[in-house]
Amino acid sequence: RTQLRGDEILVVSNREPYIHEQDPAGSIVVRRPASGLVTAVEPVMRACSGTWIAHGSGSADRDVVDRHDRVSLPPGQDDYRLRRVWLTEEQEQGYYYGFANEGLWPLCHVAHVRPVFRESDWRHYREVNQRFADAVVAEARSDDPVVLVQDYHFALLPAMVRSRLPRATILTFWHIPWPNPESFGICPWRDELLEGMLGSTIMGFHTPTHGKNFLESVDRYLEARIEHEHSTVSFRGEQTFVAAYPISIEWPTASTLASWATPEACRAQVRATLGIPEDHRIAVGVDRFDYTKGILERLHAVERLLEKYPQWRDTFTFVQVAAPTRASLEEYQAFQQRIHALAERINRRFSAGGRGVVRLLAQHHEPEAVTRLYRAADACLVTSLHDGMNLVCKEFVAARDDEQGVLVLSRFAGAARDLPEALVVNPYHVEEVADALHRALTMPPAEQRERMASLRSTVREFNVYRWAGHMLADAARWRLRERVSRRV
Ligand code: G6P
Repeated sequence: RTQLRGDEILVVSNREPYIHEQDPAGSIVVRRPASGLVTAVEPVMRACSGTWIAHGSGSADRDVVDRHDRVSLPPGQDDYRLRRVWLTEEQEQGYYYGFANEGLWPLCHVAHVRPVFRESDWRHYREVNQRFADAVVAEARSDDPVVLVQDYHFALLPAMVRSRLPRATILTFWHIPWPNPESFGICPWRDELLEGMLGSTIMGFHTPTHGKNFLESVDRYLEARIEHEHSTVSFRGEQTFVAAYPISIEWPTASTLASWATPEACRAQVRATLGIPEDHRIAVGVDRFDYTKGILERLHAVERLLEKYPQWRDTFTFVQVAAPTRASLEEYQAFQQRIHALAERINRRFSAGGRGVVRLLAQHHEPEAVTRLYRAADACLVTSLHDGMNLVCKEFVAARDDEQGVLVLSRFAGAARDLPEALVVNPYHVEEVADALHRALTMPPAEQRERMASLRSTVREFNVYRWAGHMLADAARWRLRERVSRRV
């Protein structure tokens, strides 16, 4: 961070770091959304100043937010500014719901949901990327700002900014996986997407495999030169460095730890709220209600556990938090219905104590409630079919200062690379997940402690500040190199 002090930083993301709302009395209240991205990027903005450009999606009333100006300040500080880009309904539909979430999301996650590619969505995606690029250029006060571009909503923006601010340092982080070239190649606009991303100085992914898939896609589809040894692409006279930066969470501070109830108190509270009998073991899943998360396969594994190990029929409850997301899309609605139906069927078959073995809580939960669940759980199931990183597993580990609780983790989540002390499973293999769950529920406390202590030391060390720090240090290095090479 210090290496960039004095430089101007612009962040581009779809989600905004603060949501401004009007309360019934007419005054503006500011909410901070629970988001890993905000936690990671905000300290950088505070240290370096600059402007955060985001879609005003959560801030309901545009007039309230932008009463005087298009720029507003985050609450209680003037370290950096917020600039919202307001989209028309059609643009939001085409860019966000359409191309980003019905096209790129299933394209990049190999979860066997067909991507939908509509010409009109693509047009809106391009248009919105252009609007955000215009906002970057309009907000930039220097001709060489550092631009931090977040995620698959903005694949075209880096080249759009590069063409107008050739000296900018553009760091793009792709928060979801990147598939192999064959999978990626079905996108009708694959070349345009790759060309857009190659406007970046640095292209960051969670894992080396995603970076390698990206390089192979570039190699397959563009006339570019790849230097594998240095992990760089040269395209139309510009260089892009491709690297892995595994994202993480903020490790809880001493005051956060002090505010937590003991695991016993958490268990008592969760049992009382959900009516779970005293003698039940509890496993939890916490996800957005998204088809990439493997919730269906997880429920099948719970059912298999009860068939194969009947001792759990009266002594086990599975709690699944599923936060609503992108619910206006048909694929999501159909998925949610399937999950509800499956949970009901399992509960008809195995109704532990009359309440059902599966508790499906399909609502948003505040972070405190999620932490309570983590602390109450004997096991946490993260069975994504494919996931860039997955932060739930890291949050679970951070919540267990008692060094108890077992993590069952999909091998297809980026996090599996760094957390081998979890019980790592193939989420498609129902039998294997059921066995892992049984093993988790019967694991002796000493083994739990050994595994959890090791997981905790990894997550504590490789926290979100490392993620941001590492990326920014690389950005500073490339910036310097470019300055030097211009002098030659
Ligand atoms: C993923 C994406 C993020 C996105 C989040 C929530 O983690 O990588 O960019 O913000 O899902 O999805 P939503 O569509 O609600 O922003």
